[in-house]
Amino acid sequence: MATKKAPAPARRGAPAARTRILVLSGPNLQLLGTREPDVYGRETLAGIHARLRARGAELGVQVTARQSNHEGRLCDWIGGARGKFDGILLNAAAYTHTSLALLDAIKAVAVPCVEVHLSNPEAREAYRHASRIAPACVAKVSGFGADSYLLALDGLVRWLASRPG
Ligand code: DQA
Repeated sequence: MATKKAPAPARRGAPAARTRILVLSGPNLQLLGTREPDVYGRETLAGIHARLRARGAELGVQVTARQSNHEGRLCDWIGGARGKFDGILLNAAAYTHTSLALLDAIKAVAVPCVEVHLSNPEAREAYRHASRIAPACVAKVSGFGADSYLLALDGLVRWLASRPG
């Protein structure tokens, strides 16, 4: 007689299998691979997305990755994230330093967001030192090249799993 195996109990504090992470990249990041490789490295955005999906599969979370050069499109994606995603990784690129609209969008949806950068903006030109979006983010990962995205994914998943309530 065939016996049905009982499902494994959910581990306390572990991320739910259907935790969904939205990864957004802003202007000019579609050019990664050839864009100022001395600053941003040689890995393409498609390669980073593939690595994020693979790491997401290891962690048991679903990763959806998108890129746009348009501030409004990024606002639309963030604005639509509530109820569809549990967390956001955002490399807003140059909009990091200018966009009150993105700051407001992150605050409006109240979906935990981590600011991500390949380079370390604070160690670069003065006009990159200020982040408009940082006050709405739970954390920031920068300066590790493409690995910033991967480290931010690990950090956000752990943050979500240990969040009280
Ligand atoms: C960046 C840093 C920004 O200052 C810059 O405008 C970018 C990329 C990064 O990932 O290092 O486009 O966000």
